[in-house]
Amino acid sequence: MKDRIKLHDKVFKPLIPGEQIEKSIDAVAAKINADYEGTDTVPVLLCVLNGSILFTAELMKRLDFDVDLMSIKLSSYRGTSSTGAVHMDMGLTGDITGKEVIIVEDIVDTGRTIEALVKILYARKASKVKVCTLLLKPEMYKKTINLDYVAMEIPNDFIVGFGLDYDGLGRNYKDIYILDTDTKL
Ligand code: IMP
Ligand code: MG
Repeated sequence: MKDRIKLHDKVFKPLIPGEQIEKSIDAVAAKINADYEGTDTVPVLLCVLNGSILFTAELMKRLDFDVDLMSIKLSSYRGTSSTGAVHMDMGLTGDITGKEVIIVEDIVDTGRTIEALVKILYARKASKVKVCTLLLKPEMYKKTINLDYVAMEIPNDFIVGFGLDYDGLGRNYKDIYILDTDTKL
């Protein structure tokens, strides 16, 4: 893990090492496996692009029942803050009519994205929608949608790494870094 990383005009410091992220994914996958043990439904695993690409891949490897992988691309962030409006950059890659959907998100912050997404999925006639997120900022989350699976909770600060970006950069790091306002460039 690097001591500091620089992306655009900002510096980030280590928050969660990759090993700890992987352990939290082991634990959340075990919970999902337990809930779906012996199931005869094939749920849709919905990767919310781009942020949850890495999480979806790591989670899928650990699931021991059949899933139907689909994607959708949403965006709401510009720089380090949420714009408040959720935009669909790319629609669903498959038909979810009558299907159970497990949303795989990188992070739930204010919850606007997840709320908008759940609405979209029921409008497309999903039979049931569950939410699985790698990260949650509990201080920020004000919505009532149940978050079925949460791998880790983090403080209310901007982070990057393991799929998450700052204006397009930082997604490729295997560890998670947090904004460092003390280190000057
Ligand atoms: P929400 O709609 O406020 O819950 O924000 C959710 C979306 O904003 C996530 O899917 C991320 O794409 C992005 N986001 C929220 N917090 C962060 C962060 O700390 N770093 C990078 N992206 C974030
Ligand atoms: Mg996202």
